[in-house]
Amino acid sequence: MSTLSIVKFGDPILRKVVQPVAAVTPQLVALTDDMLQTMHKAHGVGLAANQVGLDMAIAVIGYRETVLRMFNPKIVERAGESVVYGEGCLSVPGVDGDVKRHAEVRAQWTDENGQQQDRHFSGHLARIVQHEVDHLNGIVIVNHLSMAARTLHRKTLDRLKADAAVAAKKAGR
Ligand code: NI
Repeated sequence: MSTLSIVKFGDPILRKVVQPVAAVTPQLVALTDDMLQTMHKAHGVGLAANQVGLDMAIAVIGYRETVLRMFNPKIVERAGESVVYGEGCLSVPGVDGDVKRHAEVRAQWTDENGQQQDRHFSGHLARIVQHEVDHLNGIVIVNHLSMAARTLHRKTLDRLKADAAVAAKKAGR
């Protein structure tokens, strides 16, 4: 297993709608091991493949006893009232703020065994699933923040953007 480097806000790959995965291969399952390790080391609860610079519709989630490796995840139903809750993101360190999400979602994906999954989520897991599927659609928490929160964090966001531009150029993105 290896730890991957997490790309930061401002890197164009975080704005991309990533490509679906054609097949769940042992190499891609090994990649999810690396993603989970990277996520745990950074004290996160979810990580999307474009956050490690890869144009692939893969996300991992590790929250309490739940560990999910999601290939081509889609949210197929949203329900419940919108809930506002403070959220952060490993790609936007130092920035957090209230994000409105649906209280419940139903998601479908292919798991690490190539099996189709269809599950209903509520509570924190519903929030994490929405956050990770957002990533795969090129959406980061900054897009959800209020103008006041963006203004509050403007210096951090500007610094992240400047650093990410350099990193993206180095990586050829
Ligand atoms: Ni995130």
